[in-house]
Amino acid sequence: MAHTIPKTVMVIFGTRPEAIKMFPVVHALKADPAFRVVTCVSAQHRGMLDQVLEIAGIVPDHDLDLMKPDQTLDGLTAALLTGLGGVMDAEQPDWVVVQGDTATAMAGALAAYYRKVPVAHVEAGLRSHNIYHPWPEEVNRKIIGTIAALHFAPTETSAAALRAENVSADAIHVTGNTVIDALQWVSARIEAEPALASGLADLEARFAGKRIIGVTSHRRENFGGGLEAIAEAIRQIAARPDVALIFPVHPNPNVRKVMEGALSDLPNVALIEPLDYPHFARLLSLAEIMLTDSGGVQEEAPALGKPVLVMRETTERPEGVEAGTARLVGTQTARIVSEIFTLLDDKAAYSAMARAHNPFGDGHAARRIAELLGHAP
Ligand code: UD1
Ligand code: UDP
Repeated sequence: MAHTIPKTVMVIFGTRPEAIKMFPVVHALKADPAFRVVTCVSAQHRGMLDQVLEIAGIVPDHDLDLMKPDQTLDGLTAALLTGLGGVMDAEQPDWVVVQGDTATAMAGALAAYYRKVPVAHVEAGLRSHNIYHPWPEEVNRKIIGTIAALHFAPTETSAAALRAENVSADAIHVTGNTVIDALQWVSARIEAEPALASGLADLEARFAGKRIIGVTSHRRENFGGGLEAIAEAIRQIAARPDVALIFPVHPNPNVRKVMEGALSDLPNVALIEPLDYPHFARLLSLAEIMLTDSGGVQEEAPALGKPVLVMRETTERPEGVEAGTARLVGTQTARIVSEIFTLLDDKAAYSAMARAHNPFGDGHAARRIAELLGHAP
């Protein structure tokens, strides 16, 4: 019997959120003998990427180890383009798969295009329609959308955004967002092995009886004044004795400097190192409210029925807002504080938001993506 030659699929990622959203795809592709899977990490992030690789059990075939402290967008992008292009030349992939909207994803798509290798885009079609919010992600994903031959849109809204840009409907597939696959996978791992997420026990004991607010913040467009206003909001929220804020701080020096300067003296604010994914899932379950500017957290919190206040002016993920679990609160101190206080003090307002919604997927996105890649030429 003739054996078909496996398709070489090069899966590229480099930051924490890409790794979280791509590991289910890597698992699904590796489970199928129709593929030769080549994993290539740019390591645009180092420590935060390695945390995900470890829990997901992925040992990359190529690791470009590109992260530099306080790296610039142009320096990083130049290194990504040549580094990823070199791996493509060595591996001769039939398909390149990228996720989301980071510099790694954009440069990976561009390097593939320069070699006329077709690109599949996971989490395609997110649009804020403002090229500076989020910056530079909105343009990154538009570039990828221009290049991609297969667009895996997480929702019908994102598929419609691609059709509105005249992307051929045949090339667009609504798969769900792989973040839901990742969250379900890690939740099952924790259930089987609670020790994987037991490292917050000391903080849980320290803040026993307090109402926990989980915080993350890292957006480039908020550097400077935006982050200072967010820090001031956290100070004002922390003036309430009934709350505690747990804030794993992004290692970007632009974030650290502001947050450590403004918040390290407050007894009910825990500024901690980035949590690995099981521990972040634990924080999501402990928290009464999430306060964030993150993309991924906007998707995970609704899935768990956790109200999420999004510190952005616009969002490319309107589904959480439409479902009622997410609310855009901008980056002005007074608004952030008053929205948090409303949720803390108004039971009806809280329960209106605290309902589990899964507008972003059903946990089977990666399997669909692998099947679609299997049928692709
Ligand atoms: C990047 C992505 C952004 C994504 C975010 C997720 C781009 C342009 N930006 O932004 O879309 O939302 O990741 O977190 O692709 N650092 C460390 N250790 C790490 C990771 C980062 O020290 O594990 C520090 C380094 O000093 C690094 C800096 O953070 O230079 C910035 O990293 P970079 O990937 O350029 O930007 P992010 O703001 O993380
Ligand atoms: N996350 C994590 N540990 C943390 C903070 C976040 O594992 O300390 C996860 C979170 O669950 C989500 C992803 O990281 O899946 C979001 O990453 P980030 O906020 O860095 O990037 P964005 O989603 O904004 O691109």
